[in-house]
Amino acid sequence: MSENKVVHYLKDYQAPDFAVAEIDLTYTIEEAYTLVRNRMMIVPHEVGRPCVLDGSAELLQIVLNGKCLSPHEYAIADEKLTIHTVPDTQFELEITTRLYPAQNKTLMGLYESGDNLYTQNEPEGFRKITYYFDRPDVMSQFTTTIIGDKRRYPVMLSNGNLIDSGELDNDRHWVCWRDPFAKPSYLFALVAGQLAVLEGNFTTRSGKEVALKFYTRPEDREKAGFALESLKHAMQWDEDRFNLEYDLNIFMVVAVSDFNMGAMENKGLNIFNTKYVLASNDTATDADFEAIEGVIGHEYFHNWTGNRVTCRDWFQLSLKEGLTVFRDQEFSADRASRAVRRIHNVRVLRSMQFAEDAGPMAHPVRPASYEEMNNFYTLTVYEKGAEVVRMYHTLLGEEGFQKGMQLYFQRHDGQAVTCDDFRAAMADANGVNLDQFALWYSQAGTPQIKAHGDYDAHNQTFSLHLRQFIPPTPDMADKQPMVIPVKIGLLDKNGASVAFKMAGTADKTEETVLVFNQTEQTFVFHDVAKEVVPSLLRGFSAPVRLDYPYSDADLMLLLAHDSDSFARWEAAQTLYRRAFASNLDALASVQPLPQHAELAQALTSALNADIDPAYKAVLLQVPTEAELWEDVSSINPEQYVCARQALLQSLASSMQDTLTHWREWADEQERNSRHHAPQEYHPDLAGVRSLRNTLLQWGVLATADLLHNIVNEFSQRATNMTHEYGMLAAINHLSDDKRNDLLNQFGQRHAQDDLVMDKYFILIGSSQRPDTLQQVEKALQHPAFSLENPNKVRSLLGSFSRNIPHFHAADGSGYRFLADYILRIDEFNPQVASRLVQAFNLYDRLEPQRKTLMAEQLQRIQKDEGLSKDSREIVDKILHS
Ligand code: TRP
Ligand code: ZN
Repeated sequence: MSENKVVHYLKDYQAPDFAVAEIDLTYTIEEAYTLVRNRMMIVPHEVGRPCVLDGSAELLQIVLNGKCLSPHEYAIADEKLTIHTVPDTQFELEITTRLYPAQNKTLMGLYESGDNLYTQNEPEGFRKITYYFDRPDVMSQFTTTIIGDKRRYPVMLSNGNLIDSGELDNDRHWVCWRDPFAKPSYLFALVAGQLAVLEGNFTTRSGKEVALKFYTRPEDREKAGFALESLKHAMQWDEDRFNLEYDLNIFMVVAVSDFNMGAMENKGLNIFNTKYVLASNDTATDADFEAIEGVIGHEYFHNWTGNRVTCRDWFQLSLKEGLTVFRDQEFSADRASRAVRRIHNVRVLRSMQFAEDAGPMAHPVRPASYEEMNNFYTLTVYEKGAEVVRMYHTLLGEEGFQKGMQLYFQRHDGQAVTCDDFRAAMADANGVNLDQFALWYSQAGTPQIKAHGDYDAHNQTFSLHLRQFIPPTPDMADKQPMVIPVKIGLLDKNGASVAFKMAGTADKTEETVLVFNQTEQTFVFHDVAKEVVPSLLRGFSAPVRLDYPYSDADLMLLLAHDSDSFARWEAAQTLYRRAFASNLDALASVQPLPQHAELAQALTSALNADIDPAYKAVLLQVPTEAELWEDVSSINPEQYVCARQALLQSLASSMQDTLTHWREWADEQERNSRHHAPQEYHPDLAGVRSLRNTLLQWGVLATADLLHNIVNEFSQRATNMTHEYGMLAAINHLSDDKRNDLLNQFGQRHAQDDLVMDKYFILIGSSQRPDTLQQVEKALQHPAFSLENPNKVRSLLGSFSRNIPHFHAADGSGYRFLADYILRIDEFNPQVASRLVQAFNLYDRLEPQRKTLMAEQLQRIQKDEGLSKDSREIVDKILHS
């Protein structure tokens, strides 16, 4: 246990002692620093309490009701300013601070990027700017004046509406923004600098004209066009599906390349990582276009779920994030390819969130404690949180869910509330009891279900027995049974859907949602005239692991016939897992590897079936290593890579002709496309290209010639970034020099494009070539690389940390290398460093030799005197110290 550890507990929550009726900020931007004058009208809730404000900025002056305070009237310690005595009734407090944005490399608070200024305040960045009640349940109306040089800062933005502006002496000017909606400090934003603007507009259903403005570097302006269109789609969708309208006359999005995460929903002034705004056919892949649409939607949807109704405290983060991820997932699914989107989301959840839930960072969707809040912007809060919201939707139906949403806004608009308030709105609007459902917010760990079925020919019943087990996590040993919605259908031995009757219902149905809420339960399906195969957990109706004793033949039947596209895909996943397991056994006992002819046959039939090309592509996704070792301890990562690679290799070899056929078919489709510009992003074409690129990756394993074809045809086929990147990704692991040649040319061709260079670094960091570590070390010196830019770090070092054979190299070189850079980055950007530390989360589950090697590096990090609390919290948890 390290000293000075401060743990924050949900159970210690106390309502604020003060309210802020109004806050008036003036930023004066000088050459080397920025002055911030913060004038607050403060209202005590109770008399006699000292006034305690959060802050860490250089303090110049405190003025209370017009009187300058002297040092004995206040105290500063541990990022808190305490004013011992304040009036019993409303008073004015004016605080002046000085900031040095050019020196701020944390990218929190006010910082410089390029020559411009930007803020990032969620969760606790505002305290780096001024002294304030930096907590989400203190909401106030903000007025912001910005003063700066006309040439250096022609554009000066903040939240809400521009209410006034003017000229000053010495080539300076000023603007004044006012946000009419009360908000917490984490939603405050300011941007100043030289920016071009791309404009659009949207008329809301009640006739409000909204100006849409996208701010970028001048050379990037045209690349914001797709994001602007995405925003209009998102605004329309929120009206159509959720009955929610935008509430200001202006909506601004600013793109910045130095940014700790994806994007931020500041009221009326979203700030985005350039990655989620800028796109052109030559620089962005289809997946990038889809990510832009999703993130634009996400931040826009926060205007209601996050801003109008916000969180009481940071433990409730999933209240806004889980709900908003659910909303962005639904938006994307309604836009195109619902089935494929769902599978994609489930895959992220299972390979990343399940791993988090099985490791040292396991925490409930609503954490009970934290040291550094920035460490809790996790897959659990976001992705599992979205699954929890999806379960309300599954249990209540679209109509019931929307009734719940309506009541939620009716009760809580303008408030800072809790996950319990959301659950109460869902329960009350539908007249149902959701008490047990609360366990989804308080119990960590992925529930496991063991299932089996019995057919009774005499009584014509099928009985499904379910047993649930919630694994212990570091925070909690014994857990209670949870409410698990299990969506189910039945298939006969020919693959036809079989109707059934549940006890107490009159009508037959072909699908139902079982409410499984005890440790053990049996569900009986009546009027079942023949033997059936159950199709379970349709649509992935709950974030659980479910095990049913299917025969291989059952799984092939589901793969061929299930009407539920998730369950059908899942059948293929289970077949892959079994094939993988037999490879792993063969490798362990030095036996020849099995050929998996039946699986190849089933996949061939699936490819030849009349289904969407994008769906064919996801059928060819073999579970990731993280999914394959999800219930394993003493993991030898190398063996997993080998056995998985061997599986891909054998399937690709026996499916060679099919792969070639469909690859040629995909080319043909694109050539003959009805779309006027087949190189552009369009969901249909994206599906075709996704299939083509997947087939290319498989094809390279089966056909040696393919490398030469790719090299020869590269420039002719690289009609957009999806193809260009797809071809490079397909050959990225090959040891042939031609891979290096193509990659170098790619790096030179796009040297001026920051976002494409991220892809260049990803290819280097994720390659399985034997010389990858040397190539990564060399790339660190590349002129386009910078340790201070989080996108670059994530691309090169992040991808290396997920590169299983190299990060887990048997000699420990991967661990040592990453630790070196974690320590360097931690000195100036703890948030980015602490994400990288989590590459070591597998520590406890590794085989002994690697565990020892990892321990050395983790201890080295832990011993670092100046280590941030961000990184320290993670290392301590991994080493249980
Ligand atoms: N609220 C943001 C979102 O999910 C995420 C966020 C939290 C963030 N902290 C951040 C973004 C810091 C950038 C930097 O939409
Ligand atoms: Zn969010």
